[in-house]
Amino acid sequence: MDLLRVSAARHFQLFTTSCRNMHLLKKQAYVNGEWVQASSNAVFPVLNPADDSVIAEVPDMDAADAKTAVDAASNTFKTWKNTTVKERSYILRKWNDICLQNVDHLAEIMTAESGKPLAESKGEIAYGTSFLEWFADTARHINGEIIPGPWPNKKILVTRHPLGVVSVITPWNFPFAMITRKVGALMAAGCTCVIKPSEDTPLTALAAVELAVQAGVPKGVINVVTSSRKNAAGVGKVMCEDPAVGCISFTGSTHVGKILYGMAAKGIKRVSLELGGNAPFIVFPSADMEHALDHAMLAKFRNNGQACVAGNRFLIHESVFDKFVEGFKGRIGQKCVLGPGNKEGVTCGPLVNKAQAEKVTGLVDDAVAKGAKVLLGGKIAKHLGDKFYESTLLVDVKPDMAIYQEEVFGPVAVCYKFKDEAEALEVANSTRSGLASYVFTKDLGQAFRMSEKLEFGMVGINDGILSSCEPPFGGIKESGIGREGSKHGVEEYTDLKYTLMSALDK
Ligand code: SIN
Repeated sequence: MDLLRVSAARHFQLFTTSCRNMHLLKKQAYVNGEWVQASSNAVFPVLNPADDSVIAEVPDMDAADAKTAVDAASNTFKTWKNTTVKERSYILRKWNDICLQNVDHLAEIMTAESGKPLAESKGEIAYGTSFLEWFADTARHINGEIIPGPWPNKKILVTRHPLGVVSVITPWNFPFAMITRKVGALMAAGCTCVIKPSEDTPLTALAAVELAVQAGVPKGVINVVTSSRKNAAGVGKVMCEDPAVGCISFTGSTHVGKILYGMAAKGIKRVSLELGGNAPFIVFPSADMEHALDHAMLAKFRNNGQACVAGNRFLIHESVFDKFVEGFKGRIGQKCVLGPGNKEGVTCGPLVNKAQAEKVTGLVDDAVAKGAKVLLGGKIAKHLGDKFYESTLLVDVKPDMAIYQEEVFGPVAVCYKFKDEAEALEVANSTRSGLASYVFTKDLGQAFRMSEKLEFGMVGINDGILSSCEPPFGGIKESGIGREGSKHGVEEYTDLKYTLMSALDK
């Protein structure tokens, strides 16, 4: 431990000299309007995945701290729910503006703890703030209905009401945007929250909340509880089971999503779950090949493959298979530059932690041992460190290989041949996941048929990027419940109330 602290101090010093904007590097959690330590005073280190240096130490909070945060959010809900939509809209827009004024500062912190290249961090901040701007607008349109009833002199009123405290549990792969996508929506609806960011990326969350404070978000509306893996289960239990919590909003793995869903069930709480994907990327013979290849790069290598919507299974028609694979190999070789995220020209950073690097290594090694062919990459680039996985292209993958079924969550593209539309659909749908899917074709009828028959929450026709604040983002089957972004994103955090207005003639 002493060694760890000495090394922490040394690396922290290095980071402080290289980080120009220390005011956003918060090392305390945020509860009830105050920057606080854990009640136990415990801390845990946040590591830079590029070199394992310690960026900062943050509070390792436990169940008791989570309870304090839930109580604060619950208490504040009593007043926040009565604010006008105009006030909430104004604050969200201000938060958006302040984040945009601090893009460089936020991006620097995000790159340090997540490993993603600086340009991608900046892109994520643009994406993340778009939700704040969007929900600043949608806050003004949370409308009800008046429905004509079957009876004379009566009216049916339907109104929407904020559902209370939302527990927000966010992942490391988009440490800013997954917070704004949830918190923007729930604040617009009139809810308050407790955020538990991933233990790998709490600093981006804390920086975002510091900017929310600067924007005038009242105390207790947003609370952040940081914890290490050791305390995550205890904190999660309070966040899912405390009676004051009305909804659990989680983005992360299907495995953890099922555990949280189970806990939420005990209190019949609402859930909004955005879970793992296994996206097919289907290329038909009529597709514009150059366009399909450009979008294959986007779908696969955005965030180095660490996205739930990443293209995971490249299903290519047999008549264009060789052409696609050759073009993909050329583009990957040319465009993927592996290295630390803060180095100029780097497009693919390290995987976020050792467990991710081991998972990707295990999937590729298993496939290769069972006969898959590596056309590019296929291993850790050891000269860079132990988390830099080479951008990889695999063919000859068979159903008995784990990589055939599982979400890779890394920079590995796997190509399969198919004979006809029916086979493409069968393979694409043969998974319990149902988040994103991509189809490349110029045949209009085929585009409609695929959109209709693909069992996924989202279908990109001739596009490899679906993410934006305007459409409803989310999955079916084991990829989740509920939608984020769009007008539906706010509705997740409201309850519908039916009021019968009767005796209107009296
Ligand atoms: C995710 O990977 O969890 C979200 C990706 C996105 O919003 O595009």
